[in-house]
Amino acid sequence: MPTEAIVVLDFGSQYSQLIVRRVREWHVYCELLPYDSPQEEFQRLSPKGIILSGGPASAYEPGAPQVPEYVFRCRLPVLGICYGMQLMAQQLGGQVMPSGKREYGLALAEIKDPSSPLFQGLPFLMPVWMSHGDQVTRLPAGFVVLAKTENTPVAAMARGDLYGIQFHPEVAHTPYGKYVLRNFAYDVCGCRGTWTAGSFIQESVQRIRQQVGQGKVICALSGGVDSSVVALLLHRAVGDQLTCIFVDNGLLRGGEAQAIVKAFRDNFRVNLVHAEASGRFLQRLNGITDPEAKRLAVGDEFIRVFKEEADKLGHVEFLAQGTLYPDVIESTAPERRSAARIKAHHNVGGLPADLPFTLIEPLRYLFKDEVRAVGKELGLPEDLVYRQPFPGPGLAVRVLGEVTPGKLETLRAADAIVREEVQKAGLEREVWQAFAVLLPVQSVGVMGDGRTYAHTIAVRAVTSEDGMTADWADLPREVLAAISNRIVNEVSGINRVVYDITSKPPGTIEWE
Ligand code: XMP
Repeated sequence: MPTEAIVVLDFGSQYSQLIVRRVREWHVYCELLPYDSPQEEFQRLSPKGIILSGGPASAYEPGAPQVPEYVFRCRLPVLGICYGMQLMAQQLGGQVMPSGKREYGLALAEIKDPSSPLFQGLPFLMPVWMSHGDQVTRLPAGFVVLAKTENTPVAAMARGDLYGIQFHPEVAHTPYGKYVLRNFAYDVCGCRGTWTAGSFIQESVQRIRQQVGQGKVICALSGGVDSSVVALLLHRAVGDQLTCIFVDNGLLRGGEAQAIVKAFRDNFRVNLVHAEASGRFLQRLNGITDPEAKRLAVGDEFIRVFKEEADKLGHVEFLAQGTLYPDVIESTAPERRSAARIKAHHNVGGLPADLPFTLIEPLRYLFKDEVRAVGKELGLPEDLVYRQPFPGPGLAVRVLGEVTPGKLETLRAADAIVREEVQKAGLEREVWQAFAVLLPVQSVGVMGDGRTYAHTIAVRAVTSEDGMTADWADLPREVLAAISNRIVNEVSGINRVVYDITSKPPGTIEWE
Protein backbone atom coordinates (compact mmCIF):
# COMPACT_ATOMS: atom_id res chain seq x y z
CA MET A 1 0.00 0.00 0.00
CA PRO A 2 1.17 3.57 -0.62
CA THR A 3 2.70 5.19 2.47
CA GLU A 4 0.12 7.97 2.54
CA ALA A 5 -3.48 7.89 1.44
CA ILE A 6 -6.71 9.82 1.63
CA VAL A 7 -10.08 8.10 1.51
CA VAL A 8 -13.11 9.64 -0.18
CA LEU A 9 -16.39 8.26 1.16
CA ASP A 10 -18.82 8.26 -1.73
CA PHE A 11 -22.33 9.58 -1.10
CA GLY A 12 -23.22 9.30 -4.78
CA SER A 13 -22.17 12.65 -6.24
CA GLN A 14 -21.50 12.72 -9.96
CA TYR A 15 -18.17 14.33 -9.05
CA SER A 16 -16.89 11.71 -6.58
CA GLN A 17 -14.35 10.23 -9.03
CA LEU A 18 -13.18 13.71 -9.83
CA ILE A 19 -12.28 14.36 -6.18
CA VAL A 20 -10.09 11.25 -6.25
CA ARG A 21 -8.40 12.39 -9.44
CA ARG A 22 -7.74 15.91 -8.13
CA VAL A 23 -6.14 14.62 -4.92
CA ARG A 24 -3.98 12.19 -6.88
CA GLU A 25 -2.77 15.05 -9.04
CA TRP A 26 -0.92 16.18 -5.90
CA HIS A 27 0.75 12.77 -5.78
CA VAL A 28 -1.26 11.64 -2.80
CA TYR A 29 -2.87 8.22 -3.23
CA CYS A 30 -6.64 8.51 -2.95
CA GLU A 31 -9.37 5.91 -3.13
CA LEU A 32 -13.16 6.05 -3.33
CA LEU A 33 -15.07 3.83 -0.91
CA PRO A 34 -18.86 3.45 -0.66
CA TYR A 35 -20.06 5.60 2.26
CA ASP A 36 -21.17 2.56 4.22
CA SER A 37 -17.88 0.68 3.90
CA PRO A 38 -16.97 -1.26 7.03
CA GLN A 39 -14.19 0.18 9.13
CA GLU A 40 -11.77 -2.66 8.21
CA GLU A 41 -12.02 -1.71 4.53
CA PHE A 42 -11.17 1.85 5.46
CA GLN A 43 -8.29 0.81 7.70
CA ARG A 44 -6.77 -1.28 4.91
CA LEU A 45 -5.55 2.04 3.50
CA SER A 46 -4.28 3.54 6.80
CA PRO A 47 -5.53 6.92 5.57
CA LYS A 48 -4.18 10.24 6.76
CA GLY A 49 -7.45 11.99 6.06
CA ILE A 50 -11.04 11.53 4.93
CA ILE A 51 -13.13 13.40 2.39
CA LEU A 52 -16.91 13.10 2.45
CA SER A 53 -18.25 13.54 -1.09
CA GLY A 54 -21.39 15.35 -2.15
CA GLY A 55 -24.54 13.41 -2.91
CA PRO A 56 -28.12 13.75 -4.16
CA ALA A 57 -29.91 13.12 -0.83
CA SER A 58 -31.01 15.61 1.84
CA ALA A 59 -29.30 15.12 5.20
CA TYR A 60 -32.55 15.49 7.19
CA GLU A 61 -34.65 13.04 5.15
CA PRO A 62 -35.44 9.75 6.87
CA GLY A 63 -33.14 7.05 5.51
CA ALA A 64 -30.61 9.53 4.05
CA PRO A 65 -27.08 8.08 3.91
CA GLN A 66 -25.12 9.00 7.05
CA VAL A 67 -21.44 9.27 7.86
CA PRO A 68 -20.31 6.08 9.64
CA GLU A 69 -19.60 6.62 13.30
CA TYR A 70 -15.92 5.65 13.09
CA VAL A 71 -15.19 8.69 10.90
CA PHE A 72 -15.62 11.21 13.68
CA ARG A 73 -14.19 8.83 16.29
CA CYS A 74 -10.88 8.10 14.57
CA ARG A 75 -9.53 11.64 15.06
CA LEU A 76 -8.34 11.97 11.47
CA PRO A 77 -8.80 15.22 9.53
CA VAL A 78 -12.11 15.26 7.64
CA LEU A 79 -13.21 17.45 4.75
CA GLY A 80 -16.93 17.39 3.99
CA ILE A 81 -17.93 18.63 0.56
CA CYS A 82 -21.52 19.84 -0.10
CA TYR A 83 -23.74 17.00 1.19
CA GLY A 84 -20.67 15.76 3.07
CA MET A 85 -20.42 19.07 4.92
CA GLN A 86 -24.15 19.07 5.65
CA LEU A 87 -23.91 15.58 7.16
CA MET A 88 -20.94 16.67 9.24
CA ALA A 89 -22.92 19.66 10.54
CA GLN A 90 -26.03 17.65 11.29
CA GLN A 91 -24.35 14.60 12.84
CA LEU A 92 -22.21 16.77 15.12
CA GLY A 93 -25.23 18.62 16.50
CA GLY A 94 -25.85 21.44 14.02
CA GLN A 95 -28.81 21.89 11.68
CA VAL A 96 -29.45 21.58 7.94
CA MET A 97 -32.53 22.96 6.21
CA PRO A 98 -33.75 23.57 2.66
CA SER A 99 -32.30 26.86 1.35
CA GLY A 100 -34.66 29.72 0.73
CA LYS A 101 -32.69 30.32 -2.43
CA ARG A 102 -31.20 27.32 -4.16
CA GLU A 103 -27.72 27.95 -5.43
CA TYR A 104 -26.57 26.39 -8.69
CA GLY A 105 -23.60 27.58 -10.66
CA LEU A 106 -20.93 30.16 -10.00
CA ALA A 107 -20.82 32.15 -6.77
CA LEU A 108 -18.23 34.38 -5.18
CA ALA A 109 -16.89 33.09 -1.88
CA GLU A 110 -15.60 35.56 0.65
CA ILE A 111 -13.00 33.92 2.86
CA LYS A 112 -13.52 35.10 6.41
CA ASP A 113 -10.47 33.42 7.88
CA PRO A 114 -7.61 33.49 5.37
CA SER A 115 -5.20 32.16 7.99
CA SER A 116 -7.08 28.85 8.09
CA PRO A 117 -4.81 26.07 6.73
CA LEU A 118 -7.50 25.18 4.19
CA PHE A 119 -7.42 28.59 2.50
CA GLN A 120 -3.83 29.58 3.10
CA GLY A 121 -2.24 31.34 0.12
CA LEU A 122 -5.58 31.72 -1.69
CA PRO A 123 -7.41 34.95 -2.58
CA PHE A 124 -9.94 36.48 -0.13
CA LEU A 125 -12.53 36.43 -2.86
CA MET A 126 -12.74 33.41 -5.08
CA PRO A 127 -15.19 32.05 -7.65
CA VAL A 128 -16.66 28.74 -6.55
CA TRP A 129 -19.07 26.25 -8.09
CA MET A 130 -22.23 25.62 -6.08
CA SER A 131 -24.88 22.97 -6.60
CA HIS A 132 -27.18 22.60 -3.60
CA GLY A 133 -30.74 23.04 -2.39
CA ASP A 134 -29.98 22.63 1.34
CA GLN A 135 -27.75 24.57 3.65
CA VAL A 136 -26.25 24.54 7.13
CA THR A 137 -28.46 26.79 9.27
CA ARG A 138 -26.82 26.17 12.64
CA LEU A 139 -23.20 25.28 13.28
CA PRO A 140 -22.37 22.42 15.62
CA ALA A 141 -20.68 23.44 18.88
CA GLY A 142 -17.16 24.80 18.47
CA PHE A 143 -17.36 25.32 14.69
CA VAL A 144 -16.62 28.67 13.07
CA VAL A 145 -17.60 30.04 9.68
CA LEU A 146 -14.62 30.19 7.28
CA ALA A 147 -16.37 31.53 4.18
CA LYS A 148 -19.72 32.81 2.92
CA THR A 149 -21.35 33.67 -0.37
CA GLU A 150 -24.25 35.99 -1.10
CA ASN A 151 -26.84 33.22 -0.67
CA THR A 152 -24.97 30.86 1.61
CA PRO A 153 -23.98 32.14 5.04
CA VAL A 154 -21.98 28.97 5.78
CA ALA A 155 -19.96 28.32 2.61
CA ALA A 156 -17.13 26.84 4.68
CA MET A 157 -16.79 25.88 8.35
CA ALA A 158 -14.19 24.33 10.61
CA ARG A 159 -13.39 23.03 14.05
CA GLY A 160 -9.83 21.82 14.52
CA ASP A 161 -9.11 19.33 11.74
CA LEU A 162 -12.75 19.00 10.72
CA TYR A 163 -13.61 21.10 7.67
CA GLY A 164 -16.74 21.54 5.62
CA ILE A 165 -17.13 23.35 2.32
CA GLN A 166 -20.42 23.90 0.57
CA PHE A 167 -18.85 24.43 -2.88
CA HIS A 168 -17.22 21.86 -5.15
CA PRO A 169 -13.41 22.21 -5.17
CA GLU A 170 -13.01 19.28 -7.59
CA VAL A 171 -14.62 20.89 -10.67
CA ALA A 172 -12.78 23.13 -13.12
CA HIS A 173 -15.32 25.92 -12.45
CA THR A 174 -13.75 26.39 -9.01
CA PRO A 175 -10.37 27.59 -10.25
CA TYR A 176 -8.68 27.54 -6.83
CA GLY A 177 -10.38 24.29 -5.84
CA LYS A 178 -7.35 22.16 -6.55
CA TYR A 179 -5.33 24.29 -4.11
CA VAL A 180 -8.00 23.83 -1.45
CA LEU A 181 -7.56 20.08 -1.90
CA ARG A 182 -3.78 20.43 -1.85
CA ASN A 183 -3.97 22.44 1.38
CA PHE A 184 -6.18 19.78 2.91
CA ALA A 185 -3.89 16.93 1.81
CA TYR A 186 -0.57 18.59 2.62
CA ASP A 187 -1.18 21.12 5.38
CA VAL A 188 -4.08 19.56 7.23
CA CYS A 189 -3.41 15.83 6.74
CA GLY A 190 0.39 16.15 6.60
CA CYS A 191 0.84 14.26 3.32
CA ARG A 192 4.04 14.91 1.38
CA GLY A 193 3.06 13.84 -2.14
CA THR A 194 5.20 10.75 -2.57
CA TRP A 195 2.87 8.76 -4.81
CA THR A 196 4.35 8.80 -8.32
CA ALA A 197 4.51 6.45 -11.29
CA GLY A 198 7.89 5.34 -9.97
CA SER A 199 6.67 4.59 -6.45
CA PHE A 200 3.61 2.83 -7.87
CA ILE A 201 5.85 0.55 -9.92
CA GLN A 202 8.05 -0.26 -6.93
CA GLU A 203 5.10 -1.13 -4.69
CA SER A 204 3.36 -3.14 -7.41
CA VAL A 205 6.48 -5.13 -8.19
CA GLN A 206 6.86 -6.05 -4.52
CA ARG A 207 3.22 -6.98 -4.15
CA ILE A 208 3.20 -9.07 -7.34
CA ARG A 209 6.35 -10.96 -6.26
CA GLN A 210 4.77 -11.74 -2.91
CA GLN A 211 1.56 -12.95 -4.48
CA VAL A 212 3.08 -14.99 -7.29
CA GLY A 213 6.04 -16.62 -5.53
CA GLN A 214 7.43 -19.18 -7.98
CA GLY A 215 4.12 -19.54 -9.87
CA LYS A 216 3.53 -19.07 -13.59
CA VAL A 217 1.57 -16.10 -14.90
CA ILE A 218 -0.11 -15.55 -18.25
CA CYS A 219 -1.42 -12.35 -19.74
CA ALA A 220 -3.48 -11.66 -22.87
CA LEU A 221 -1.55 -9.00 -24.75
CA SER A 222 -3.55 -7.00 -27.28
CA GLY A 223 -1.15 -4.15 -27.94
CA GLY A 224 -3.49 -1.68 -26.24
CA VAL A 225 -2.00 0.48 -23.51
CA ASP A 226 -3.64 -1.37 -20.58
CA SER A 227 -2.50 -4.87 -21.46
CA SER A 228 0.92 -3.58 -22.53
CA VAL A 229 1.49 -1.89 -19.16
CA VAL A 230 0.27 -4.98 -17.28
CA ALA A 231 2.67 -7.12 -19.28
CA LEU A 232 5.65 -4.87 -18.60
CA LEU A 233 4.85 -4.54 -14.91
CA LEU A 234 4.54 -8.30 -14.51
CA HIS A 235 7.69 -8.82 -16.51
CA ARG A 236 9.58 -6.46 -14.26
CA ALA A 237 8.26 -8.32 -11.21
CA VAL A 238 8.58 -11.97 -12.22
CA GLY A 239 10.57 -12.01 -15.49
CA ASP A 240 10.36 -15.36 -17.25
CA GLN A 241 7.61 -16.67 -15.00
CA LEU A 242 5.37 -14.53 -17.23
CA THR A 243 4.17 -15.61 -20.67
CA CYS A 244 2.14 -13.21 -22.79
CA ILE A 245 -0.31 -14.63 -25.28
CA PHE A 246 -0.95 -12.37 -28.23
CA VAL A 247 -3.96 -13.66 -30.19
CA ASP A 248 -3.42 -12.34 -33.68
CA ASN A 249 -6.94 -12.37 -35.11
CA GLY A 250 -6.00 -10.90 -38.47
CA LEU A 251 -8.30 -7.97 -37.71
CA LEU A 252 -5.62 -5.51 -36.62
CA ARG A 253 -4.50 -2.46 -38.52
CA GLY A 254 -1.59 -2.46 -40.97
CA GLY A 255 1.77 -3.29 -39.36
CA GLU A 256 0.32 -3.63 -35.86
CA ALA A 257 0.91 -7.32 -35.22
CA GLN A 258 4.57 -7.05 -36.25
CA ALA A 259 5.04 -3.94 -34.06
CA ILE A 260 3.65 -5.75 -31.00
CA VAL A 261 5.89 -8.78 -31.53
CA LYS A 262 8.91 -6.55 -32.12
CA ALA A 263 8.34 -4.39 -29.05
CA PHE A 264 7.65 -7.19 -26.58
CA ARG A 265 9.70 -10.12 -27.84
CA ASP A 266 12.72 -8.33 -29.31
CA ASN A 267 12.96 -5.18 -27.19
CA PHE A 268 11.57 -6.15 -23.82
CA ARG A 269 12.52 -9.85 -24.09
CA VAL A 270 9.15 -10.94 -22.77
CA ASN A 271 8.14 -14.59 -23.30
CA LEU A 272 5.58 -14.08 -26.03
CA VAL A 273 3.33 -16.58 -27.75
CA HIS A 274 2.29 -15.10 -31.08
CA ALA A 275 -0.86 -17.10 -31.83
CA GLU A 276 -1.33 -16.41 -35.53
CA ALA A 277 -5.00 -17.29 -35.90
CA SER A 278 -6.22 -15.00 -38.68
CA GLY A 279 -7.35 -17.98 -40.78
CA ARG A 280 -9.56 -19.25 -37.97
CA PHE A 281 -11.13 -15.85 -37.38
CA LEU A 282 -11.85 -15.29 -41.07
CA GLN A 283 -13.35 -18.75 -41.24
CA ARG A 284 -15.64 -17.96 -38.28
CA LEU A 285 -16.68 -14.66 -39.86
CA ASN A 286 -17.39 -16.23 -43.23
CA GLY A 287 -20.89 -15.29 -44.41
CA ILE A 288 -21.82 -13.33 -41.26
CA THR A 289 -23.19 -9.83 -41.88
CA ASP A 290 -25.06 -9.03 -38.65
CA PRO A 291 -22.96 -6.73 -36.41
CA GLU A 292 -23.79 -8.47 -33.12
CA ALA A 293 -23.16 -11.89 -34.63
CA LYS A 294 -19.79 -10.69 -35.89
CA ARG A 295 -18.87 -9.40 -32.42
CA LEU A 296 -19.91 -12.65 -30.77
CA ALA A 297 -18.00 -14.76 -33.30
CA VAL A 298 -14.78 -12.80 -32.75
CA GLY A 299 -15.20 -12.81 -28.96
CA ASP A 300 -15.85 -16.53 -28.83
CA GLU A 301 -12.97 -17.44 -31.13
CA PHE A 302 -10.64 -15.26 -29.08
CA ILE A 303 -11.48 -17.21 -25.91
CA ARG A 304 -10.96 -20.54 -27.70
CA VAL A 305 -7.58 -19.60 -29.08
CA PHE A 306 -6.45 -18.12 -25.78
CA LYS A 307 -7.48 -21.24 -23.84
CA GLU A 308 -5.75 -23.56 -26.30
CA GLU A 309 -2.52 -21.61 -26.03
CA ALA A 310 -2.75 -21.40 -22.23
CA ASP A 311 -3.26 -25.19 -22.04
CA LYS A 312 -0.04 -25.73 -23.94
CA LEU A 313 1.90 -23.96 -21.18
CA GLY A 314 1.25 -26.63 -18.54
CA HIS A 315 0.14 -25.61 -15.06
CA VAL A 316 -0.47 -21.88 -14.85
CA GLU A 317 -1.77 -20.40 -11.62
CA PHE A 318 -2.23 -16.72 -12.39
CA LEU A 319 -3.84 -14.56 -15.06
CA ALA A 320 -2.87 -10.87 -15.19
CA GLN A 321 -5.51 -8.47 -16.51
CA GLY A 322 -5.64 -4.75 -17.25
CA THR A 323 -8.81 -3.86 -15.32
CA LEU A 324 -8.89 -0.11 -14.61
CA TYR A 325 -10.32 1.89 -11.70
CA PRO A 326 -13.42 3.36 -13.42
CA ASP A 327 -14.65 -0.20 -14.11
CA VAL A 328 -13.98 -1.21 -10.51
CA ILE A 329 -15.89 1.82 -9.19
CA GLU A 330 -18.81 1.14 -11.50
CA SER A 331 -19.07 -2.48 -10.46
CA THR A 332 -18.75 -1.94 -6.69
CA ALA A 333 -21.10 1.01 -6.10
CA PRO A 334 -24.72 -0.09 -6.57
CA GLU A 335 -25.88 3.34 -7.69
CA ARG A 336 -23.20 3.35 -10.38
CA ARG A 337 -23.92 -0.08 -11.85
CA SER A 338 -26.11 1.15 -14.68
CA ALA A 339 -23.09 2.84 -16.27
CA ALA A 340 -21.24 -0.48 -16.27
CA ARG A 341 -24.05 -2.19 -18.15
CA ILE A 342 -23.93 0.24 -21.04
CA LYS A 343 -20.41 -0.89 -21.74
CA ALA A 344 -21.02 -4.61 -21.29
CA HIS A 345 -20.86 -5.39 -25.00
CA HIS A 346 -17.38 -3.96 -24.98
CA ASN A 347 -16.14 -6.98 -23.12
CA VAL A 348 -15.85 -8.51 -26.57
CA GLY A 349 -12.17 -9.26 -26.83
CA GLY A 350 -12.02 -9.91 -23.09
CA LEU A 351 -11.94 -13.14 -21.10
CA PRO A 352 -14.77 -14.76 -19.15
CA ALA A 353 -14.74 -14.60 -15.36
CA ASP A 354 -14.77 -18.39 -14.83
CA LEU A 355 -11.28 -19.26 -16.06
CA PRO A 356 -9.33 -21.48 -13.63
CA PHE A 357 -6.74 -18.85 -12.72
CA THR A 358 -6.16 -16.50 -9.81
CA LEU A 359 -6.52 -12.96 -11.12
CA ILE A 360 -3.80 -10.35 -10.82
CA GLU A 361 -5.04 -6.86 -11.61
CA PRO A 362 -2.20 -4.46 -10.91
CA LEU A 363 -3.93 -1.46 -12.57
CA ARG A 364 -7.14 -1.95 -10.61
CA TYR A 365 -6.81 1.39 -8.84
CA LEU A 366 -5.50 3.52 -11.71
CA PHE A 367 -7.17 5.91 -14.13
CA LYS A 368 -6.19 5.80 -17.79
CA ASP A 369 -3.84 8.78 -17.69
CA GLU A 370 -2.07 7.25 -14.69
CA VAL A 371 -1.67 3.99 -16.61
CA ARG A 372 -0.05 5.99 -19.40
CA ALA A 373 2.36 7.63 -16.94
CA VAL A 374 3.30 4.20 -15.58
CA GLY A 375 3.77 2.93 -19.15
CA LYS A 376 6.12 5.79 -19.92
CA GLU A 377 8.09 5.15 -16.74
CA LEU A 378 8.41 1.48 -17.74
CA GLY A 379 9.85 2.50 -21.10
CA LEU A 380 6.83 1.69 -23.28
CA PRO A 381 7.27 3.44 -26.66
CA GLU A 382 5.22 6.64 -27.07
CA ASP A 383 3.12 5.27 -29.92
CA LEU A 384 1.93 2.49 -27.61
CA VAL A 385 1.51 4.80 -24.60
CA TYR A 386 -0.74 7.14 -26.57
CA ARG A 387 -2.34 4.54 -28.80
CA GLN A 388 -5.94 5.43 -29.53
CA PRO A 389 -8.62 3.01 -28.30
CA PHE A 390 -9.21 0.12 -30.67
CA PRO A 391 -12.20 -2.23 -30.40
CA GLY A 392 -11.70 -5.87 -29.40
CA PRO A 393 -13.40 -7.15 -32.59
CA GLY A 394 -10.97 -4.97 -34.55
CA LEU A 395 -11.54 -4.19 -38.20
CA ALA A 396 -14.43 -6.71 -38.31
CA VAL A 397 -16.68 -3.91 -37.03
CA ARG A 398 -15.26 -1.41 -39.51
CA VAL A 399 -15.80 -3.54 -42.62
CA LEU A 400 -19.55 -3.21 -42.82
CA GLY A 401 -21.29 -6.38 -43.90
CA GLU A 402 -19.32 -9.55 -44.62
CA VAL A 403 -15.62 -9.53 -43.75
CA THR A 404 -13.29 -10.82 -46.48
CA PRO A 405 -9.48 -10.69 -46.85
CA GLY A 406 -9.83 -8.34 -49.84
CA LYS A 407 -12.03 -5.88 -47.93
CA LEU A 408 -9.69 -5.96 -44.94
CA GLU A 409 -6.79 -5.10 -47.21
CA THR A 410 -8.69 -2.16 -48.73
CA LEU A 411 -9.69 -0.87 -45.31
CA ARG A 412 -6.14 -1.20 -43.93
CA ALA A 413 -4.78 0.90 -46.79
CA ALA A 414 -7.40 3.63 -46.30
CA ASP A 415 -7.05 3.57 -42.51
CA ALA A 416 -3.28 3.97 -42.72
CA ILE A 417 -3.83 7.15 -44.75
CA VAL A 418 -6.31 8.58 -42.23
CA ARG A 419 -3.90 7.93 -39.38
CA GLU A 420 -0.88 9.28 -41.27
CA GLU A 421 -2.60 12.53 -42.20
CA VAL A 422 -4.02 13.11 -38.73
CA GLN A 423 -0.59 12.47 -37.25
CA LYS A 424 1.11 14.72 -39.80
CA ALA A 425 -1.23 17.54 -38.78
CA GLY A 426 -0.27 16.95 -35.13
CA LEU A 427 -3.86 16.11 -34.21
CA GLU A 428 -3.40 12.54 -33.08
CA ARG A 429 -3.75 13.34 -29.39
CA GLU A 430 -6.41 16.01 -29.96
CA VAL A 431 -8.86 13.40 -31.17
CA TRP A 432 -10.11 10.40 -29.22
CA GLN A 433 -10.06 8.25 -32.36
CA ALA A 434 -9.65 8.77 -36.09
CA PHE A 435 -10.17 5.86 -38.46
CA ALA A 436 -11.66 4.61 -41.72
CA VAL A 437 -14.77 2.50 -42.24
CA LEU A 438 -15.42 0.51 -45.43
CA LEU A 439 -19.02 0.80 -46.55
CA PRO A 440 -20.78 -1.84 -48.62
CA VAL A 441 -22.01 0.90 -50.92
CA GLN A 442 -20.95 1.39 -54.52
CA SER A 443 -21.35 4.63 -56.38
CA VAL A 444 -20.45 6.14 -59.72
CA GLY A 445 -17.41 8.32 -60.21
CA VAL A 446 -15.11 9.52 -62.96
CA MET A 447 -11.37 9.02 -63.06
CA GLY A 448 -9.33 10.24 -66.02
CA ASP A 449 -11.62 9.61 -68.97
CA GLY A 450 -13.35 6.63 -67.48
CA ARG A 451 -16.45 5.97 -65.45
CA THR A 452 -15.89 4.15 -62.16
CA TYR A 453 -18.28 2.19 -60.02
CA ALA A 454 -16.55 1.50 -56.72
CA HIS A 455 -16.81 1.46 -52.94
CA THR A 456 -16.99 4.22 -50.34
CA ILE A 457 -14.80 4.94 -47.33
CA ALA A 458 -16.30 6.81 -44.39
CA VAL A 459 -13.84 8.74 -42.25
CA ARG A 460 -14.70 8.85 -38.55
CA ALA A 461 -12.89 11.19 -36.18
CA VAL A 462 -14.28 12.08 -32.76
CA THR A 463 -13.37 13.97 -29.64
CA SER A 464 -14.37 12.47 -26.31
CA GLU A 465 -13.46 12.33 -22.62
CA ASP A 466 -14.28 8.71 -21.98
CA GLY A 467 -15.87 7.18 -25.08
CA MET A 468 -19.33 7.24 -23.46
CA THR A 469 -20.30 10.41 -25.29
CA ALA A 470 -18.47 11.95 -28.24
CA ASP A 471 -18.58 14.74 -30.76
CA TRP A 472 -17.38 14.55 -34.34
CA ALA A 473 -14.01 16.24 -34.65
CA ASP A 474 -13.87 19.47 -36.60
CA LEU A 475 -10.78 18.43 -38.59
CA PRO A 476 -9.27 21.23 -40.70
CA ARG A 477 -10.41 21.26 -44.31
CA GLU A 478 -6.84 20.69 -45.59
CA VAL A 479 -6.52 17.52 -43.53
CA LEU A 480 -9.84 16.19 -44.80
CA ALA A 481 -8.86 17.14 -48.36
CA ALA A 482 -5.52 15.34 -48.09
CA ILE A 483 -7.19 12.22 -46.67
CA SER A 484 -9.83 12.19 -49.41
CA ASN A 485 -7.35 12.83 -52.26
CA ARG A 486 -4.94 10.23 -51.10
CA ILE A 487 -7.55 7.54 -50.50
CA VAL A 488 -9.18 7.82 -53.95
CA ASN A 489 -5.77 8.00 -55.63
CA GLU A 490 -3.92 5.37 -53.64
CA VAL A 491 -6.50 2.78 -52.61
CA SER A 492 -7.85 0.71 -55.45
CA GLY A 493 -11.55 -0.04 -55.32
CA ILE A 494 -12.45 3.28 -53.63
CA ASN A 495 -13.82 6.23 -55.57
CA ARG A 496 -15.62 8.20 -52.84
CA VAL A 497 -14.80 9.42 -49.33
CA VAL A 498 -17.39 10.78 -46.90
CA TYR A 499 -16.95 12.33 -43.45
CA ASP A 500 -19.15 11.15 -40.59
CA ILE A 501 -20.65 14.16 -38.78
CA THR A 502 -22.72 12.31 -36.18
CA SER A 503 -22.18 12.81 -32.46
CA LYS A 504 -22.65 10.10 -29.82
CA PRO A 505 -25.46 9.90 -28.88
CA PRO A 506 -27.34 9.34 -31.12
CA GLY A 507 -24.59 7.65 -33.16
CA THR A 508 -21.98 5.33 -31.68
CA ILE A 509 -18.29 5.82 -32.36
CA GLU A 510 -17.87 2.52 -34.20
CA TRP A 511 -20.28 1.86 -37.03
CA GLU A 512 -21.11 -1.67 -35.86
P1 XMP B 1 -19.05 2.84 -29.35
O1 XMP B 1 -18.95 2.33 -30.74
O2 XMP B 1 -19.91 1.99 -28.47
O3 XMP B 1 -17.57 2.75 -28.75
O4 XMP B 1 -19.43 4.28 -29.29
C1 XMP B 1 -17.09 3.44 -27.63
C2 XMP B 1 -15.61 3.17 -27.48
O5 XMP B 1 -15.36 1.78 -27.20
C3 XMP B 1 -14.57 1.19 -28.21
N1 XMP B 1 -15.12 -0.15 -28.44
C4 XMP B 1 -14.63 -1.28 -27.93
N2 XMP B 1 -13.58 -1.51 -27.13
N3 XMP B 1 -14.05 -3.84 -27.15
C5 XMP B 1 -13.28 -2.80 -26.76
O6 XMP B 1 -12.31 -3.04 -26.05
C6 XMP B 1 -15.14 -3.69 -27.95
O7 XMP B 1 -15.81 -4.64 -28.29
C7 XMP B 1 -15.43 -2.34 -28.35
N4 XMP B 1 -16.40 -1.82 -29.13
C8 XMP B 1 -16.20 -0.45 -29.17
C9 XMP B 1 -14.70 2.10 -29.41
O8 XMP B 1 -13.58 2.00 -30.28
C10 XMP B 1 -14.83 3.45 -28.76
O9 XMP B 1 -13.57 3.97 -28.36
